[in-house]
Amino acid sequence: MGDTRANRRFRSQEWFDNPNNPGMTALYVERYQNQTFTRGELQSDRPVIGIANSGSDLVPCNKIHIFLMDRIKAGIREAGGVPMEFPVHPLQETGKRPTAALDRNLAYLGLVEILHGYPLDGVVLTTGCDKTTPAMLMGAATVDIPAIALNGGPMLDGWWQGKRAGSGTIVWESRRLLAEGRIDYDEFMDRVCSSAPSLGHCNTMGTASTMNAMAEALGMSLTGNAAIPAPFRERMAMAYETGRRIVQMVLDDLKPSDILTRAAFENAITVNSAIGGSTNAPPHLQAIARHAGVELDVTDWERIGHDVPLLVNMQPAGEYLGESFFRAGGVPAVMAELARAGRLHVGAMTATGRTLAENLERVRSADPDVIATCDAPLRAQAGFKVLSGNLFSSALMKTSVISDEFRARFLSEPGQEGVHEARAVVFEGPEDYHARINDPELKIDESAMLFIRNVGCVGYPGSAEVVNMQPPDALVKQGVRHLPTVGDGRQSGTSESPSILNASPEAAVGGGLALLRTGDRVRLDLNASRLDALVDDAEWDLRREAWEPPEIVSQTPWEEIYRANVGQLAEGGCLELATAYRRIARDLPRDNH
Ligand code: FES
Ligand code: MG
Repeated sequence: MGDTRANRRFRSQEWFDNPNNPGMTALYVERYQNQTFTRGELQSDRPVIGIANSGSDLVPCNKIHIFLMDRIKAGIREAGGVPMEFPVHPLQETGKRPTAALDRNLAYLGLVEILHGYPLDGVVLTTGCDKTTPAMLMGAATVDIPAIALNGGPMLDGWWQGKRAGSGTIVWESRRLLAEGRIDYDEFMDRVCSSAPSLGHCNTMGTASTMNAMAEALGMSLTGNAAIPAPFRERMAMAYETGRRIVQMVLDDLKPSDILTRAAFENAITVNSAIGGSTNAPPHLQAIARHAGVELDVTDWERIGHDVPLLVNMQPAGEYLGESFFRAGGVPAVMAELARAGRLHVGAMTATGRTLAENLERVRSADPDVIATCDAPLRAQAGFKVLSGNLFSSALMKTSVISDEFRARFLSEPGQEGVHEARAVVFEGPEDYHARINDPELKIDESAMLFIRNVGCVGYPGSAEVVNMQPPDALVKQGVRHLPTVGDGRQSGTSESPSILNASPEAAVGGGLALLRTGDRVRLDLNASRLDALVDDAEWDLRREAWEPPEIVSQTPWEEIYRANVGQLAEGGCLELATAYRRIARDLPRDNH
């Protein structure tokens, strides 16, 4: 750090202000002038700041960014930069079929090309909906120009008949009520729609709120950015301050590689447990870490995170929504509490230009009912379990959503706390599940464990959020809200289901799940972090020899490219070849004429 404007030559000047190459410089400057920039502006020793706009009509969760652009640009201008807004490939969690997870890596690739190939010195990453945040942090890590995340913020709290209606969480609850016959189609629709009262992303601690908390915990945003609801004036102010800040980051040459260290990722894992964060965080953080060149392993989530207490009382692990979380102090209040308990690396550098310790000075929870202390947490040991066994090398289980009822019913064989044996019922994907879940032939009762396969990165493609399978209607009517479920896909971060998910390697590439059959006995041992099919080795070997990969049909060219290059969820679901490209802004691309 320390370069000042006076002695610093910006990357963008290689396009806009290079007297040694007048032919190309003129070509670059003339066309950018026609949108109101003047030659003087482009050749004035000011950094050019990209604003990666992830909002559009197709991405309602991030549409607030369209209205924040003016404030971001005002901040950039005020600090002496030249703002240039550009679009990001749309990533809408609920709208994109077969799944937005497929497109995370596509948006990442697009952003890498833009940041590398255009005259940009720094970038504001406008985040929000689930995959927008990791896609952009992955891109910023690969290119390694100064970058700062700006969340759009959660929607206002939803309300239904006097109770908080949380994004996603109310969907899973209402599906059960529909299955029980307690509500009809119209009430089902009204209940679910009540959870989306304003612009913004999911108001629960689903994947969107989680990933923005992760961006803040990693140090990649201003302090307090993650939790401000989209419509609040504080969100406008945060947009302005973020615009101002990125200019100084460019002047100081404060890059993702200075912030995204091993310590930062360990902090993020700890924060994820404390907020009751999404099971989608591990693959996304793994992907960011790999593109940043930081060693991280899926087992770190249990080693570092399992022991951390739950501090945030927010759906799906708790009761409140985004507005209460913001008023209680948001991510800084959680981190300050963890820091006081000695659970964070407080020397980590952040986008503010200060360390975590400096950012968190004098921060406290304003409402212990919403953000608790480590002395009186909502529950102890709120992090993930990372399971292994003969069905997969790794799979995750979110322990903060295990209810007492579920624990009593499924995690306590007589005399063996944390152990459960069950009969496997196997589905080949969500279509098969929906077609057969109520089929009496399957004899699904409380002794069943539901498995779903071929829904991982290669199989689906992109890995679908389908592992939180609802029990058959007949069981739901008897009050069985969850059966244990297992799969090589993911589940929504808004689900309160204690599924075992993200199983890697997935069935479609020959993971052990591929060999399981309905009727097999399976044994879950949470104390040993294992899940195994109780099938003898000789039989298991026979099945492996007989296994044939499922027939895979891609529907788009990107699906085929993705399937040929994607890794497993445990390794972040990255395009494997892309992880070899690091800090590519160090080299300028060739001229275009
Ligand atoms: Fe976009 Fe939840 S669906 S944030
Ligand atoms: Mg989702």
